Amino acid sequence: MDAPSSLTPDVLGAPEGIANPYPAYRAFRGPNPVRYLRLPAGPLTGRTEPLYAWALMRHADVLAAIRDPATFSSQTPQVLKTIPKLALLHDDPPHHTHLRRLVSKVFSPQRIASLSDWISRIAFELLDSMGKGSAEFMSAYAVPLPMRVIATMLGVPDQDYPSFKLWSEAVVSYAGMPAEERARKTQEMMAYLGQAIAERRKQPREDLISALTVADVEGAALSDAEIRSFVAVLLIAGNETTTNLIGNMMAILADRPELWRQAREDRSRVEPIIEEVLRYESPVQRLPRVTTRPVRIGDVDIREGELVDIVYGAANRDPAVFEDPDTFRPERPTNHQHLGFGLGTHYCLGAPLARLEARITLSAFLDRFATLERGVEPGVRQRAAQVSFGYKALPLVLG
Ligand code: HEM
Repeated sequence: MDAPSSLTPDVLGAPEGIANPYPAYRAFRGPNPVRYLRLPAGPLTGRTEPLYAWALMRHADVLAAIRDPATFSSQTPQVLKTIPKLALLHDDPPHHTHLRRLVSKVFSPQRIASLSDWISRIAFELLDSMGKGSAEFMSAYAVPLPMRVIATMLGVPDQDYPSFKLWSEAVVSYAGMPAEERARKTQEMMAYLGQAIAERRKQPREDLISALTVADVEGAALSDAEIRSFVAVLLIAGNETTTNLIGNMMAILADRPELWRQAREDRSRVEPIIEEVLRYESPVQRLPRVTTRPVRIGDVDIREGELVDIVYGAANRDPAVFEDPDTFRPERPTNHQHLGFGLGTHYCLGAPLARLEARITLSAFLDRFATLERGVEPGVRQRAAQVSFGYKALPLVLG
């Protein structure tokens, strides 16, 4: 499984490295950290200068960095030139702490567990319209489920879901869409949200956008811009990610019929399977930080103000923590040490929701289908968003 000798760290920023980053992780985890070309200059990226980043790929280095937000800041001006600022994700303590407190109640494990019935209803509706036999799983199920869940929580009407999918793709897809088009779609999203906020300010409803219009941080109300960046983070961090978790999970199981059979007989296997998918094919592969002071990592001196990528996907395959890391093994004892949802200050707010959606999905499909296989056409990995690992298309046969 050695990487080809022609491999350079720059592959991490290229479409083939996004579609399959694992050979590069294996090759460069040793010399970690490595500097790579994250985004070239040009009309596609909208950058006048290339953007370089240091990739942290060892579990220990990733853990140390995410536990030290004072040194590894989430305020990343280099990246915010190409995407809108997202609440929480691009904030540092102490402001982050106030904002996080505001929404943590809505996303608490108890509150999320109470949503189980209506999420199951959406899952069954989608399953019913898929029927039995061949299906393109991403468009029939993995994309619409999280989209409908988060849009309903926010109070976005059904007919607007497709626009949200396009907008969230535009924000994360550096390599797949010209910069101008991306900027236009981002503006459309922000204008739509501005109008939704104005409507709630006039007449509050029973939804999350209304709750944000009346919330206060340290005695002050949130501005429209703050609410927009809150809603944007939930849409962007909550959709693509959960879609990819569900898609990766079903593809892995389609390739392992014995696991499907075992899980049908013993549902205590469902949760360990989901955790191992989060480790083995992490939906969020990497997220950036900026150094606030000079730091030394391994043999490398990183200056202040440099972009550092926290490569969760590589840390989750680090043999120092996960024995035989390139094998999918739900019963592995160190499974709980995966960093698929990050850790510390920015630990994923939506982790209970994502886990619940994955659990409802797997249980419903196990109940309904004795067999799960790949379709005739191969699955197609997305090659545009460096952050994510998932399928654009995944043909499956449900029997
Ligand atoms: C399988 C699905 C998901 C994965 C793998 C995932 C992964 C992550 C990761 C790795 C982080 C850490 C960010 C960092 O280190 O900078 C994060 C943060 C975050 N996630 Fe998720 N996420 C998922 C689903 C969701 C959902 C469903 C939501 C919301 C509805 C959500 C909302 C957020 C937010 C708001 C943050 C920022 C938290 C903060 O900075 O305090 N995520 N997620």
